[in-house]
Amino acid sequence: MGTHMTKDAIRLRSVTRRYGSGAASVTALDDVSLAFPRGTFTAVMGPSGSGKSTLLQCAAGLDRPSSGSVTVGDTELTGLSETRLTLLRRERIGFVFQAFNLLPSLTAEQNVALPLRLAGRRPRKGQVREVLEQVGLGDRARHRPTELSGGQQQRVALARALITRPEVLFGDEPTGALDSRTGREVLGLLRDMVDRDGQTIIMVSHDPVAASHADRVVFLVDGRVNGELNGAPAEDIAAHMTRLEAAPC
Ligand SMILES: Nc1ncnc2c1ncn2[C@@H]1O[C@H](COP(=O)(O)OP(=O)(O)OP(=O)(O)O)[C@@H](O)[C@H]1O
Ligand SMILES: [Mg+2]
Repeated sequence: MGTHMTKDAIRLRSVTRRYGSGAASVTALDDVSLAFPRGTFTAVMGPSGSGKSTLLQCAAGLDRPSSGSVTVGDTELTGLSETRLTLLRRERIGFVFQAFNLLPSLTAEQNVALPLRLAGRRPRKGQVREVLEQVGLGDRARHRPTELSGGQQQRVALARALITRPEVLFGDEPTGALDSRTGREVLGLLRDMVDRDGQTIIMVSHDPVAASHADRVVFLVDGRVNGELNGAPAEDIAAHMTRLEAAPC
């Protein structure tokens, strides 16, 4: 599959995603071109319905653009069969959502091992404990989701996303269901993964404070990129959002 040593972990070129057809059609993404360099943390912000989730789904190979191309490392996704796309997602992409989507009947370590098992692989000895320790839950391996706090459950979901050592970790409002303190813990963890392990992270968020943990914030309006900020504090990000939401349609 190559060495994936390209500078950018993900590239979108003129990506358009239309839903439906005719008069009822919606252009969720409109000619979006973006590069996400390896080892960087990007936040995607924008008003509700601006195309953030659609952008993430297209970039992660969960959805296919109507036109344009998406590249993961040196792999062009356009034209890949469903089977190849599923394998690529399984082996090279991690995803965490607002809802943690843990299986309630499985323990933390069983949930974390699931992506490997689905791929027909057996975790090597200690592998599951290592990622659980990486997210600070080494002592909770045998607990089930109902025995864990919201922040702990999201950290299990993170560990599950990380077990395959994905090239890119995507998050769609990963702290959306957490209180602000717990949310900050999870964001601190994401930041550490970027700084310590060179993880690439792309995260959708509504929250300027959450987005301020990223290196870069990309703004979407009506499916188009509408500016970006680099290393900006939360106040600047909030001010930019206020301007975008006030703009006449
Ligand atoms: N499966 C679908 N069928 C039809 N329209 C869709 C579909 N998914 C998304 N859309 C439309 O595409 C646009 C972008 O949706 P998207 O979910 O990407 O927005 P978002 O920025 O993530 O919004 P939010 O902040 O509310 O999560 C919206 O107008 C939405 O109604
Ligand atoms: Mg969304």
